[in-house]
Amino acid sequence: MSNNNIISISNLSAGYFVNGKYFDAVKNINLSIKEGEVFSIVGQSGSGKSTLVLAIMGLLSIDNGKISTGLVKFYDKDILSIIDKIRGKDISIVLQDPNSYLNPVIKAGHQVFEALEIHNPNLTKDEIYNTVKETFKKVKLDDFERIYNSYPHQLSGGQKQRILIAMAIINNPKVLIADEPTSGLDVHVQKQILELFLELKQQLNLTLIIITHNILIAKKYADTVAVMLNGEIVENKNADDLFFNPEHEYTKIILGHIKLSNFNNIIKGKNVN
Ligand SMILES: Nc1ncnc2c1ncn2[C@@H]1O[C@H](COP(=O)(O)OP(=O)(O)OP(=O)(O)O)[C@@H](O)[C@H]1O
Ligand SMILES: [Mg+2]
Repeated sequence: MSNNNIISISNLSAGYFVNGKYFDAVKNINLSIKEGEVFSIVGQSGSGKSTLVLAIMGLLSIDNGKISTGLVKFYDKDILSIIDKIRGKDISIVLQDPNSYLNPVIKAGHQVFEALEIHNPNLTKDEIYNTVKETFKKVKLDDFERIYNSYPHQLSGGQKQRILIAMAIINNPKVLIADEPTSGLDVHVQKQILELFLELKQQLNLTLIIITHNILIAKKYADTVAVMLNGEIVENKNADDLFFNPEHEYTKIILGHIKLSNFNNIIKGKNVN
């Protein structure tokens, strides 16, 4: 891990329009992510994890959302001014639900092919095809011909995730964001996919951002952890520090240090002892 911040977020608020009315789903977020680290964002369902990474990726407008205030920087540049050029290239995301992201009527391999082609119009079809083949190996998809020629619905959940990961890494990104990449997979496959991310991080020198509702995943894999609650970051520090020395009541609860019965009061913002 270096001391350079690859992503810095200051005073970021972002949210959605529902029935014409805007609300902030994430509020006043400040954090920095160091080049080469594994950064985990932890929080329960609805806490704003996906909204935060969609804001980083400049993808909120697709979902009727927007950044209302604040700034996201990629190194020293305002990310929104460059995101259309770097998305899928320098910074990639593997989204929560592969079914909503993969095109059901295009063969899986061809979707990986297109992910490379779009950023490299000068490569020949053969060069692209060969790189797709190498990338299948990197994400441990065997049986290349068959998987390449399968439509998404002909693949298992784990295979679809690997296709998404192949699409995300084929342009050698610097940052890879994994948004709950294992929800919906059985525990064994979940572990394989997470270990694949870690292996790729080493191989490709990535900065890896893992979004999860499971603090044990963060504990096992992350260097730095940010805990989200109701759209805000309530604690953000070095992982060992967080686990041995949690300060916020909510962090203590999800670590099992204090009683779960206090949980409802804390998520409603009440003080508990
Ligand atoms: N497209 C949308 N339009 C309106 N509101 C949305 C939209 N997407 C999310 N929200 C709302 O924003 C808040 C944060 O949602 P978000 O999806 O960021 O949470 P999350 O932490 O990723 O949850 P999960 O763990 O279930 O994926 C929630 O209150 C949710 O209802
Ligand atoms: Mg989410």
